[in-house]
Amino acid sequence: MLTQDASLWQRYQELKDALHTHNYRYHVLDDPLISDAEYDRLYAELRQIEADHPEWIAPDSPSQRAGAAILDKFIKVRHPAPILSLANAFNAEEARAWFERVRKVDDRVEKAAFTVEPKIDGLTVVLHYRDGVFVQGATRGDGEVGEDITANLRTIKALPLRIPPASAGGDAGAPAVRPPAHLVVRGEAFITIRDFEALNRKLEEAGEKTYLNPRNTAAGSLRQLDSALTASRPLTLLVYQVIAWQENAEQPGVDNAPHSQSETLKTLRRLGFPVPAYDHCADIESAIAACERRAAQRDQPPEEGGMAYEVDGAVIKINDRQLAADLGFVGKDPRGALAFKFPAREVTTRLSGIGVNVGRTGVLTPYAILEAVEIGGVIVERATLHNFEYIAEKDIRPGDRVLVKRAGDVIPYVIGPVVGARQGDEWPYVPPEACPACDQPVEHVEGEVAWYCVNAACPAQLIRNLEHFVSRGAMDIVGCGIKIVEQLVQVGLLHDVAELYTLRKEQLLELDGFAEKKAENLLSAIAASRQRPLARLINALGIRGVGEVMATDLAGVYPDLEALGKAGLEELQQIEGVGPNIAQAIVDWFARPANRELLAKLRQGNVWPQSEVNHPKAEANLKFEGKTFVITGSLPSLTREAAKALIESRGGKVTDSVSKKTSYLVLGENPGSKLEKARTLGIAILDEAALRDLCA
Ligand code: IVH
Repeated sequence: MLTQDASLWQRYQELKDALHTHNYRYHVLDDPLISDAEYDRLYAELRQIEADHPEWIAPDSPSQRAGAAILDKFIKVRHPAPILSLANAFNAEEARAWFERVRKVDDRVEKAAFTVEPKIDGLTVVLHYRDGVFVQGATRGDGEVGEDITANLRTIKALPLRIPPASAGGDAGAPAVRPPAHLVVRGEAFITIRDFEALNRKLEEAGEKTYLNPRNTAAGSLRQLDSALTASRPLTLLVYQVIAWQENAEQPGVDNAPHSQSETLKTLRRLGFPVPAYDHCADIESAIAACERRAAQRDQPPEEGGMAYEVDGAVIKINDRQLAADLGFVGKDPRGALAFKFPAREVTTRLSGIGVNVGRTGVLTPYAILEAVEIGGVIVERATLHNFEYIAEKDIRPGDRVLVKRAGDVIPYVIGPVVGARQGDEWPYVPPEACPACDQPVEHVEGEVAWYCVNAACPAQLIRNLEHFVSRGAMDIVGCGIKIVEQLVQVGLLHDVAELYTLRKEQLLELDGFAEKKAENLLSAIAASRQRPLARLINALGIRGVGEVMATDLAGVYPDLEALGKAGLEELQQIEGVGPNIAQAIVDWFARPANRELLAKLRQGNVWPQSEVNHPKAEANLKFEGKTFVITGSLPSLTREAAKALIESRGGKVTDSVSKKTSYLVLGENPGSKLEKARTLGIAILDEAALRDLCA
């Protein structure tokens, strides 16, 4: 290898190491060390090297997570040992009965200790590692033979492509452990409840079909042939069992294989796998108590002991692996473990009607109005019906008895009708032809399942738009909740989001519940939102398919909304993550006359952030080159940093003290002694508006 190549090769290895470490810190430990942007930079550097040296790309390269060639079909894989299932118990009595049965088989069980783990409701996966590198992954199949889904599994960020993921010794967070020559582990791939809900929100906004539940989504994502699609799904993983552990034959005498279940989980964790939190229980009664505690906690938020993902029970395992193995099986169920199932959260109730919500993009979403029913300690009166197609497919009729499921914290959904319980007076549901909020005709977009209200002045859409505009990920107008938004629209004070910035105190004081203080607080929160960075404003506009991440990417390319509005379809599609649909949605949004008017109003209202990034589109505008600025006092809408970024993006320099070399003093409220000095030296003074004019 040439010297130059040798050092590049070394840099390539460093990058791989660093990316594995940071990936592990983020996705397994939930404790990142660097920002997403820094990660992206390292990744881009790695991709560049791989583009120049494709011969260096190994299966453990972080780039292999992006998805591979589309397959025709999955290949079958025989598992090294049967992938067993579990016997069930539905209450403490049945768990005690299981204990009595196994105690009779082997009296060591009398004194056995147990672990209790969550029973994760996902898709079972079997992962193979050779010399620490992930080489193959399969579904469970019939327990003997599964399907090879390696390319799909590689896309899961929590799955280590090599173990340990971080180099030995570094401050990587994963202590050094030597992996065995061949290791096969079993775990569960799944989607967390939050990620599932976010995914469905995104799909709903894009007018696409939403998913029924996290489990089906995870299973569907892993069992399809295009791994690039899998990569776009928020799958994650927990690993809990060693199926095979083979040490290197050249090192006789070495045997690090774990001998108990608690040791298994600790070892897997040390190797870099994400593992579930478990309880160590000295006897069966404390194991049962642990299961009952987990059952009671499952409805709480994760911070209070609830689960971030769906569980359908807890698993009690005899801790001693040898004893568990000696106990053998009954059919496909090992005697040494038991699933303690939690009560199913499915009930039947009457569907009294079907309501229709109007989203901010105008999507109409049907929901079920139910006769109130308790599911797992919560009274449920509403449930999702996904979309009109779902209602037709399942033939769900108002008046039906329906089966409703609540899983984790996910909004309950209607599984389907109990057809046998029909009285004969239930009629198929007909979707509305007019928007339930504004009574204008609804439209269907070719190729989408959704129906839309396309009336730009629809009050329901405006309320949803405003709700999104003021939300935390967008303009973050503190204290402006849904109630206030509804009130402002209903009394006719707001007709679009820009009118927030022209609200006056006298107007607010006339409203119910508004006193001096509340009005002032709201107005100052609105004023403060002028300082939000461009990415926030792009997100706030609510363009279909453009969420927080995409908005940040766009703000990295375009200096302001004017530049973004001028971008064409082709150009937009050059940006990573922008496909033809999103590009079209952006172009359409800026072409709509109502939106152009809105932009003009925002600009006039000084809601016109400039991107703080140095990006290609801004380079041409270097009108401040060679000019030095000093800022004093607080500006009405720009923060100090934003004003500095604005000046610097045009080639100007910002310094702290006024001197003869200063070109401009930017003057805000409550200025300091700098103003005096600037006056003495005869330096040009600008307020924020003048600065903006100068920038344009
Ligand atoms: S142990 C011999 N532990 O539940 C060991 N299974 O029928 C048998 N599952 O699809 C499995 N979480 O994949 C075990 N912590 C956990 C689990 C778990 C979920 C799944 C398993 C199988 C089903 C049991």
